[in-house]
This record gives sequence, structure tokens and C-alpha cells, in this order.
Amino acid sequence: MVRSARRRDDLLLDVGCGTGAASRAASAATRLVVGVDLSAEMIRRAAELASGVENVRFLIADSEQLPFEDGAFTAVLCSNSFHHYPDPSRAVREMVRVLASDGRLVIGDACADLPTARIADAVLRRIEPGHVRLYRSSELGSFLERAGLCRVMLRKLSGGGFAIVRGIPAWTASARAGPARCPTHVGSRVCALSRKGVNYRGRMREVQHG
Ligand SMILES: C[S@@+](CC[C@H](N)C(=O)[O-])C[C@H]1O[C@@H](n2cnc3c(N)ncnc32)[C@H](O)[C@@H]1O
Repeated sequence: MVRSARRRDDLLLDVGCGTGAASRAASAATRLVVGVDLSAEMIRRAAELASGVENVRFLIADSEQLPFEDGAFTAVLCSNSFHHYPDPSRAVREMVRVLASDGRLVIGDACADLPTARIADAVLRRIEPGHVRLYRSSELGSFLERAGLCRVMLRKLSGGGFAIVRGIPAWTASARAGPARCPTHVGSRVCALSRKGVNYRGRMREVQHG
């Protein structure tokens, strides 16, 4: 997941970084990594674990209100944190706002495609205050598209229990492919998704890992 988000000269933002495992992993092959988390304790521990790593910074911030200028990062990563966000659309809009025009956004999280995951989700919503909800993999893709990203790709892991979605700003895709050719890839079969009045058709590129 970290590999699909970062490039060597990236300025990478790790949203909901926790203790910073992904930030540290990415730091070896990027220019600068900034990890943000809502929890002061997580940020304190992340900074401690990354002491001595020159190109990593951590700060307390809410995913729904990122304290950065527009286009500040060339890559934004959000791993295992998305199910905590009360307003996920707003969080994705923020991630896209701070993404440079040639950047990439990658979100990976447990997903609700499997019946067992939907049961676990219902239980967690009742017993874990920080758990907002799990989304189906197609919903995760839709969040990115509604926020203006294009070429949204989906990869499923753990037999469908975990999904990674990746997208690039539509204006970048338009510049590369021409405005009329900005296809939606959400997984290997053509799929039609219809939610909240939004209808679109996309080709799926889906990889299953057992
Ligand atoms: C399960 S941890 C994942 C940590 C790390 N990204 C990883 O993959 O190991 C989820 C993290 O999201 C953080 N979080 C929850 N809501 C958040 C929000 N609104 N903004 C930023 N971080 C948030 C939590 O504090 C927690 O550290």
C-alpha cells in the first residue's frame, strides 16, 4: 500500500498515521513524510518511534480539517483510519485539496464487502465509540470520484476483507489522456453503480489475495 502511494521525490501525507508505521516505511524512499493524527498520544508515540529519521514530521490534525495549503503534497496515504471519520466525504475532499495536481491519493481500509465484515461492523458501531462504519469497496471508490479524482482503481486483499483505492486528480488525467478519455476503473468487470442519484459505469481492475 505504501509502495502504491509513494515515489522517491514525494512529499507524502499520511492521514490518521497512528504510531507512524506507514510513515516510517515510506520515509526511506520519499523526500518528506508528514504524519497527522487526531490523537496526541499517537503523535507522541509516532515521533518517539521515528526519532533519528530525518525526513518525517508528525502533527496533531483532524482528517476533516487538514492544516495545509492546497496542493501541498504529491501523495496522500490513509491506511486503516477511514472507518473512524464522521464525515468521510469531507475528509476525502480535504485529502484531494492538499494533493498536488500530479499527485496520488491512496486509501486502504477494512471493507464491508463480506457478510462477516458487515456483522463485525454492526457490532463495532455499538461497542467502539471511535468506529463510525466500514464501507463496501465500491463505496470507497465512489468517495474518490465524487471528490474529483479520476482513474480510480480498486484492489481487494484478504479475500475481500480489505480494500485499497487509488486515484489521481481528474485534471491530471485529462491533461494526459484528453478530457474525453478519463475512464473510471473500480475493479475487472464492467460495473454499474447507482447511489444517491449518481450513476456511472466503470471498468474494474480487481486483484484478489487469499
Ligand atoms: C487503526 S489506527 C491506524 C494507524 C495507521 N495508519 C496504521 O495503518 O497502522 C487509526 C488511527 O486513525 C486516527 N484517527 C481517527 N479519527 C481521525 C481523524 N478524524 N483525523 C485523523 N486521525 C484520526 C486514530 O487516532 C488512529 O490513530
